[in-house]
Amino acid sequence: MKHTLTLVAAALIMAMTACNQQENKQESTNQNTPEMKTETTLKEVPGRKNFGDQHALVTTPQPCVMIATWDKDHNPDVMMAAWAGQLDYNQIVISLSKHKTTDNLELTGAFTVSFADERTVAESDYFGLVSGNDVPDKVARAGFTVTPSPNVDAPIVNEYPLTLECRVVSFEDGMLIGEVVNQSADESILTDGKVDLTKLKPIVFDAAGMCYRALSDSVGQAWGSGKKFQ
Ligand SMILES: Cc1cc2nc3c(=O)[nH]c(=O)nc-3n(C[C@H](O)[C@H](O)[C@H](O)COP(=O)(O)O)c2cc1C
Repeated sequence: MKHTLTLVAAALIMAMTACNQQENKQESTNQNTPEMKTETTLKEVPGRKNFGDQHALVTTPQPCVMIATWDKDHNPDVMMAAWAGQLDYNQIVISLSKHKTTDNLELTGAFTVSFADERTVAESDYFGLVSGNDVPDKVARAGFTVTPSPNVDAPIVNEYPLTLECRVVSFEDGMLIGEVVNQSADESILTDGKVDLTKLKPIVFDAAGMCYRALSDSVGQAWGSGKKFQ
């Protein structure tokens, strides 16, 4: 299990590295930087179109996680991150460039993670478009409010109904690992006491189409639908 999760993390690292490399390519066409890998001559995959190592498609669809932190003056900041995943049962990993958020979490050692949903598309995208360094009141401008987490030194965004409260385990080479110390959910997204994604209505980032997509209905039982082949 841990091995699989490590592979997922490695894929995420590769995705973000490729993202940075793509930006480098755009800035300096045909100029190899030391961290860029050498070009590989690709062979056709029969019946398919090759996209090479385009970062856009690596793990799409990706989750839209919303990271909330306090800044040095205790102002809340929220940013969108799509290069994120689960590393272990109680750990998440997020690939981050330098942002106000990263300054904040290095200061406090904590953050919360919520999930963008169909009701909050515009606000969530705004949190990915604008930096708290330029717009210190970006959370309020989006009309969102926060409550201090009782468990970690970070804000909980009231408008997102599912939130993980996280302690920073490490933040090295742009890779944030957080320990989830608590998850809390608003009653409005529960069915029989369990989180119900039909009610949460989370969205995912479609890196191929550069858009957000809704998740639709359950289409099978995990560790169940495949039993017919056993
Ligand atoms: C769809 C989307 C996905 C993003 N994913 C990431 C990500 O995974 N890692 C990252 O460092 N920045 C990511 N960003 C960029 C940050 O959200 C953006 O730079 C934000 O303004 C940072 O806010 P802050 O400076 O207030 O912390 C993403 C933005 C969008 C719109």
